[in-house]
Amino acid sequence: MLKVAIFQFSGTGNTYYISQLIQSEMREKRIICDLYAIESLKESNHFIDHYDVIGLGYPIYGSSIPRIVRKWIDGLRFRRDKRGFVFCTQMMYSGDGAAYGARLLRKKGYHILQQEHFNMPNNITDYKIFRTKKAISYEKIETKNSKKIQRFVKNILLEKGFLKGSNPISLALGLVQRVPYHQMERRLMNHAILLEPNCIKCGKCVEICPTKNFVFKEDLLKVRNRCMLCYRCINHCPVLALHINKKSLVDKPYHGPTMQFKIRDVMTHDPTNEVIDEMEL
Ligand SMILES: Cc1cc2nc3c(=O)[nH]c(=O)nc-3n(C[C@H](O)[C@H](O)[C@H](O)COP(=O)(O)O)c2cc1C
Repeated sequence: MLKVAIFQFSGTGNTYYISQLIQSEMREKRIICDLYAIESLKESNHFIDHYDVIGLGYPIYGSSIPRIVRKWIDGLRFRRDKRGFVFCTQMMYSGDGAAYGARLLRKKGYHILQQEHFNMPNNITDYKIFRTKKAISYEKIETKNSKKIQRFVKNILLEKGFLKGSNPISLALGLVQRVPYHQMERRLMNHAILLEPNCIKCGKCVEICPTKNFVFKEDLLKVRNRCMLCYRCINHCPVLALHINKKSLVDKPYHGPTMQFKIRDVMTHDPTNEVIDEMEL
């Protein structure tokens, strides 16, 4: 039986949501499909040994890939025996968002079967230009994406390559966004998160940050220089005390793509994983 592992990073839930839809579509077709959270893995190569096909999912940041995902790909062993697929979530457009990740995986020897982009709600909630006035329609998110997921999974299984974002125009538009984004990422790494005095020191940001960018020191919350701009803490601070934009605060946080969404779920592996059980993790 075909064994698929999806490795995903999701700052605020969109990529996790799409990963889950892909997983359940695969399982409906009686394929073993396990879901891993990149942020809670120290080493992935020995997991990969157990699977035939590797999926990679991430959110788009300025047509680029979150730093944690780039590092994860860097740590992969070169191998020619694995097939892969790549998907990304974005609010609007990324040019070659999935193709960029696919290129990095190809350099590690992977044969990429599919690349796809999924449009999801925006999670940047402190910049006025990105704020959307409309309320989120959970129903629309589901109907919009479920047909696309069916097609995506079918094509992976038929090995009928659809490589979204690989044409020269997408590559050029991706590059135009990515170069300034990487410069901004380097600049913001050290001073991205601004902490307002209304902080209640509840420790939620300490608990949920994927890069451990927050620490308590002598009863004071300190922000370190490890931010990778995922917007998780900003959207889940109970008193909205965190932001990146110097000029404006968060007014309406983004709490994920479903009503029942819990941020802690994105941080851990799926408890129903079949191939590698909890004992080995
Ligand atoms: C720092 C940052 C940069 C982003 N850049 C883009 C972009 O270039 N194009 C786009 O369509 N969406 C962009 N987005 C929106 C996210 O890609 C989108 O909301 C994504 O689905 C979030 O996924 P997650 O909930 O799994 O973190 C950006 C978000 C962040 C936080």
